[in-house]
Amino acid sequence: MSMDVLKKAAAAEALTLVESGMRLGLGTGSTAKIFVDLLAERMKREGLKLVAVPTSEATRLQAETLGIPLTTLDETPELDLAIDGADELDADLNLIKGGGAAHLREKIVELSAKRFVVIADETKEVKTLGKFPLPLEVVPFGLEATRHRLMRVIEASGHTAILHLRKKADGSIVKTDGGNLILDAHLGAIADPARLASALDHVTGLVEHGLFIGMAERAYLATREGVRVIKRA
Ligand code: A5P
Repeated sequence: MSMDVLKKAAAAEALTLVESGMRLGLGTGSTAKIFVDLLAERMKREGLKLVAVPTSEATRLQAETLGIPLTTLDETPELDLAIDGADELDADLNLIKGGGAAHLREKIVELSAKRFVVIADETKEVKTLGKFPLPLEVVPFGLEATRHRLMRVIEASGHTAILHLRKKADGSIVKTDGGNLILDAHLGAIADPARLASALDHVTGLVEHGLFIGMAERAYLATREGVRVIKRA
């Protein structure tokens, strides 16, 4: 069974939560992309009326191409449901996101939704977050000074911090949709994700980190045996 089949199964499950009239948040990444494709198909088939806020320029382009009506958080500050993938999730539904450099907009959109639901294949589930490098979106100004401050905060939280400036395969520096940079923190294991998240919340120059703590209401995790629902306690 291919990864895409699993991602599609998780996306299809989340699609059952969508009702006509809803205001949706649309995530970013390969799983969210499949969800957006399925959503557009269902809208055409069933004549669903809804509006959506995309979490990235890539998703905005995809949704526009598929004819999904878009809105902004300025016009529609409260959403009913946001659906997105994740890079890692634990049993408490704490997440690492930002592998696609979109976690700032994702967090803004997903915090604006009454319900935030994660869709993922089984490879994303971990016992302890942190194998996936934690994305840290930083402003370009003062990059090295911010990097040092981040290292001090991360080390004070009991981790060894190796922070890599994210680059593309061709060696050019990755820029987010907001024009910022990404430092990837290779932490190995994050024993207390909530504590690290609140420590990072106070670092000047860091725009947003990829820890999503206590935000997801449930996850649809596609396994080879079927889709498992994980609900936050
Ligand atoms: C985007 O920045 C990320 O937060 C994505 O949600 C995450 O990388 C999941 O992407 P995939 O569905 O492609 O694994």
